[in-house]
Amino acid sequence: MHPLSELETPVPVVDLDRLGRNLDRAAAYATQHSLALRPHIKTHKAPRIAREQLSRGAVGLTCATAFEAEVMSDVCRDLLVAFPPVGSARAGRIAALPDGVNVTVALDSIESVEMIAGAARKTDRRVGVYVELDLGMHRVGVPVVDDAIAIAREVRSRPPLEFTGIAFYPGHIREGVGSPQSAKLETLSKSVGEVVDAFDRAGLRPTVVSGGSTPTLWNTHEIRGVTEFRPGTYVYNDRTTAEIGACGWDDCAFTVLATVVSTAVPNQAVIDAGSKALGREPMRGTDASGGFGALLDRPEVVVASMSEEHGILDLSKTEWRPSVGERVRVVPNHVCVVVHLNDVVVGARGDVVETTWPVAARGRGYSIAV
Ligand SMILES: Cc1ncc(COP(=O)(O)O)c(C=O)c1O
Repeated sequence: MHPLSELETPVPVVDLDRLGRNLDRAAAYATQHSLALRPHIKTHKAPRIAREQLSRGAVGLTCATAFEAEVMSDVCRDLLVAFPPVGSARAGRIAALPDGVNVTVALDSIESVEMIAGAARKTDRRVGVYVELDLGMHRVGVPVVDDAIAIAREVRSRPPLEFTGIAFYPGHIREGVGSPQSAKLETLSKSVGEVVDAFDRAGLRPTVVSGGSTPTLWNTHEIRGVTEFRPGTYVYNDRTTAEIGACGWDDCAFTVLATVVSTAVPNQAVIDAGSKALGREPMRGTDASGGFGALLDRPEVVVASMSEEHGILDLSKTEWRPSVGERVRVVPNHVCVVVHLNDVVVGARGDVVETTWPVAARGRGYSIAV
């Protein structure tokens, strides 16, 4: 058993008690509201945590990349790839996932139906399809319900594809729980209800209505018709999630442990975590004071600027003056990107290192033939 103080820095550290609480709370919420929890694993990218989610009742997992699905197929028999299956390589890898894995894709075009249908025919495997709708985020998804219905009909005409549901991602709702979110949720709920009714009238009742995110996690049950939700960030949470009020500061389970390496310039301290350890993600959906992360024990101290290996702590809002060699824990703005910068994550209880695990689904997992 090693103390955290012996670790070389910068190093990503997960507080195992907080992680456990975050996992338990979401699982209990799903049970309470009879919702199927299909967590998005893009946040942790680790089979070890996926197992924890499944043992707490998750019905399956959501992935974004073919590599994530390949890695997770070792621990899970029911995978959703919530990303358009476009390109023969991507579609081919999805269709070649191990036999016995129930695979579903979310898509929003006739072209992607053709691509995944072609790949599925080659490997002779059933692939479930959710037709994705744009209900406000304006990223992917069909904006017009009749066009979504046309895509579902196309899916139906192309076995071994099977139309199994509809999907949307409420990424445009970044307000914390409370009145501004309630107004947007009401609009969303109305839209989802109308879409489900339209599919119903067209004789294409979706078995699954898949939505959900971390900011809307605790209000998913208020969205009419939703049967399945896909939060990802909730396992670790981050500064943005806390700032928008979707979690407490004490729910942030992931930090980057760093060392103060210089205090030579007045009113600032330099740590050994720069953009290659913290990412360069801005705060989104909040007026918070900017920067690229904040100290776990002193949230008023932010990483104001960075080079690749240097992070500059702004000390203008604190009396605290750290010494060279002192350790700090930084809560990143956007944890998913920071996890992806690391091969291995440390699990700690209190100040003691208990375990480590690989970020196994990090990267793309392809080889390039030359
Ligand atoms: C399609 C999809 N579903 C679910 C999620 C999880 O949302 P969150 O990061 O808010 O937990 C994401 C996040 O990017 C997503 O893109």
